[in-house]
Amino acid sequence: MTPIVAFDSVTKRFPGVVALADVSFDLAPGECHAICGENGAGKSTLMKILSGVITDYEGEIRVRGTPVRFTGTRDAERAGIAIIHQELNLVEQLSAAANIFLGRERRTPLGLLDDSAMIREAGELLAGLECPIDPRVAAGTLRVGDQQLVEIAKALSLRTDILIMDEPTSALTEAEVARLERVIARLRAQGTSILSISHKMDEVFRLADRITVLRDGRHVRSVERAATTPREVTGWMVGREIADHDFHGSRQRGARLLEIRDLTVPWPEHPRGYRLRDVSLDLHAGEILGVAGLMGAGRTELLETIFGVLPPSWTGSIRLEGRPVRFSHPREACAARIAMVTEDRKRLGLFPDLDVAANISLCSLAATLRGGLVNRSREEDLVAGPIRSTGVKTPGPHAAITGLSGGNQQKCIISRWLLTQPRVLLLDDPTRGIDVGAKADLYHLIDRLCREGLGVILTSSELPELLTLADRIIVLAEGRLTAELSRAEATEQRIMEAATAS
Ligand SMILES: Nc1ncnc2c1ncn2[C@@H]1O[C@H](COP(=O)(O)OP(=O)(O)OP(=O)(O)O)[C@@H](O)[C@H]1O
Ligand SMILES: [Mg+2]
Repeated sequence: MTPIVAFDSVTKRFPGVVALADVSFDLAPGECHAICGENGAGKSTLMKILSGVITDYEGEIRVRGTPVRFTGTRDAERAGIAIIHQELNLVEQLSAAANIFLGRERRTPLGLLDDSAMIREAGELLAGLECPIDPRVAAGTLRVGDQQLVEIAKALSLRTDILIMDEPTSALTEAEVARLERVIARLRAQGTSILSISHKMDEVFRLADRITVLRDGRHVRSVERAATTPREVTGWMVGREIADHDFHGSRQRGARLLEIRDLTVPWPEHPRGYRLRDVSLDLHAGEILGVAGLMGAGRTELLETIFGVLPPSWTGSIRLEGRPVRFSHPREACAARIAMVTEDRKRLGLFPDLDVAANISLCSLAATLRGGLVNRSREEDLVAGPIRSTGVKTPGPHAAITGLSGGNQQKCIISRWLLTQPRVLLLDDPTRGIDVGAKADLYHLIDRLCREGLGVILTSSELPELLTLADRIIVLAEGRLTAELSRAEATEQRIMEAATAS
């Protein structure tokens, strides 16, 4: 059978990096094909080439046997290829419906925008994804998980038969992942071929018919899923074994850092009336407190309230080392040595116009200044440590941040906060999009910092991550705390029960 897509010796060079070197493999019609590899392996670059985002490359791509050379994404779309990008790509001010039909707006016979048709169709598409949001709301006000579903709806509306998904599930909760897997199964049954990038081995092994592994821009191999194991694939990705590690050995709980009592965060626009209700918790030095819950349960809002992102209209009390605090801006929280790594690095974290070093040193500017100007060599000295300890892969400290792979951008944001030497670190799904090897490195780093007296509040869309790292886990359901579980008590089962309690 003619492959639906064939990559033949595809090579892509960026200044200073060979992102893809001589990559060749096929995609069979109707199959779900997973692309695996470490951060920076070249996965996104290859998918951008196939979808017409990147047009200058060497080698050949054949679609249904015919050599193609797309001049842009529209060109690829006409050939039935659509991509859902790793970094969200919605226009925040526009409604979900307008985003879905951007550039292909429905018009009335008189040539006017047919809003009601677009809203209806968008609503149907979203309902097909079991996503019951109002298509009229501005995309920017949606949570990351919902935004991603809007992107998926957009791709589906293109009636594509080759769908590329670059880490589509990295922002989704387990329930949403299950929902997406049902959608993917349905699409495949209708004959759509799917190329999916994922760092999550369990998903890869549930969904994929075949798996291709890239490492440092090279094609390592393509195998039938049934003929391999997650361990083997991980080994091909990193070229080494990843050691299992117990992160709890001898961690000592220290003094109380945070004391939160009866925290209630109002939410007048919502029928529920509050984002959080009567939440109380303590965080000690040397401790990792996990926060579990479904999307919308209030995990991010809890961290954002502590960090001063949300307006300080809450009631209750937050004490930091005994002193009452009420931050109305993240700047104030930073000054009190609280740091936060956000779940959406594009919107809340990255400054695309600044280079790697500037993105990392941003919150520690004082240390890089000389005579009021940023001193380059001081800046380089300052960022060298965290770049090493988090393992950022970059051609140099002054490379463009936008040139780094998604996972490496996330490591830059973590590096930024490490430099501020926080006492309390708020991590909102910090390993989203980070490869298995780097994840293990990050776990070691968090563990080490805790041993040095840091207190961490961690949310994660992956329960195993919470169970691996956290000393205690609190569970939120619809803004209320429904359980607090010690490490010994916490199991996936008990957490899910508390997360779905009403
Ligand atoms: N626009 C660009 N300019 C310069 N270098 C780039 C650009 N895009 C990608 N690269 C480099 O190409 C290499 C491959 O990046 P790519 O984004 O394809 O990785 P990836 O496998 O998708 O990683 P991740 O899992 O972190 O998303 C990296 O070294 C990256 O820094
Ligand atoms: Mg990528």
